Amino acid sequence: MDRIFSGVQPSGNLTLGNYLGAIRNWVELQNDYECIFCVVDMHAITQWQDPAELTRNTREVAACYLAAGIDPKKNILFNQSAVSAHAELAWIFNCVARMGWLNRMTQFKEKAGKNKENASVGLYVYPNLMAADILLYKGTHVPVGDDQKQHLELARDIAQKFNNDFGKEIFPLPEPMIFGAATRVMSLRDGTKKMSKSDPSEYARIGMKDDADAIALKIRKAKTDPHPVPDSVDGFEDRAEAKNLMNIYGALNNMKLEEVCAQYGGQSFADFKKALTEVAVAKLSPISTEMQRYMDDPAQVDAILRDGAERANAIAQPILQEVKDVVGFLRP
Ligand code: AMP
Ligand code: TRP
Repeated sequence: MDRIFSGVQPSGNLTLGNYLGAIRNWVELQNDYECIFCVVDMHAITQWQDPAELTRNTREVAACYLAAGIDPKKNILFNQSAVSAHAELAWIFNCVARMGWLNRMTQFKEKAGKNKENASVGLYVYPNLMAADILLYKGTHVPVGDDQKQHLELARDIAQKFNNDFGKEIFPLPEPMIFGAATRVMSLRDGTKKMSKSDPSEYARIGMKDDADAIALKIRKAKTDPHPVPDSVDGFEDRAEAKNLMNIYGALNNMKLEEVCAQYGGQSFADFKKALTEVAVAKLSPISTEMQRYMDDPAQVDAILRDGAERANAIAQPILQEVKDVVGFLRP
């Protein structure tokens, strides 16, 4: 049976990248798959999180899932730390994955920066926990943004090695689902960098909680170049920022990049930015209003997460037990 698993870290303010690269796609998939959507708080603490902020951000990510249109009855919505089987399977995977595999992970290199010695061990083994998230439910499909491709390849390698080592087809090899017009939304200040929750500049990202004024200001200040909007997709050489803004427009408006070029080609970026602001505000304001409504009622969010954790645990426990038996752990 096909089963989707995906998650977002509660490690800061959610961005338009999280929405266009992941959450919006989930909303579409929920009708065709059995889906488990997680707020991956255990992933978040691989880098320092203020405890009170972590609690708040966890509710906020859940609020965004709900506000974006994910139905908590049809799907399972929960926070990772509420189902302890994630940690248990991750330990087993720590013993399956090889150092050499993890040493190749580019996200660790980016996040650890120059001072690798000072990175947490959790940050290093983070992809093993991610593999555990998916495989704990025998997840078959994983809708994510482009930056998670390498981690998913590792999850497949872990599943395959586990199956080989123990001579049993326990785990499926999960398929990445990387689709939509915005699999990689770039920073508004630097078109070669990913738009990220953790960018030190607020002006690098559009946040899912930004109001109309903030969205307008950030788009107005977004980096462009002195040339007009290109009229074809061949006109983007050395124009990463221009391409990113037009991609965002297309993604928000369900238009192909070619169509955006055809419609706005030749106009000034000042005019194009006005159109972009309009569509961004129209699409994002209802979500941020709804998010705020959920944030004003934390008991409702907690009840949804509690119910989700119970349902997730009911699927996870028999699979974890199967894995423990295969590994040879004694059940005294
Ligand atoms: P994270 O913020 O790292 O927890 O990412 C959660 C999900 O959002 C993952 O599926 C990412 O691939 C996706 N995502 C994060 N940033 C971007 C971005 N700038 N463009 C597209 N997808 C993104
Ligand atoms: N590592 C993912 C990210 O930072 C989040 C994540 C954790 C995830 N576990 C997952 C995504 C399992 C998909 C499936 O974006």
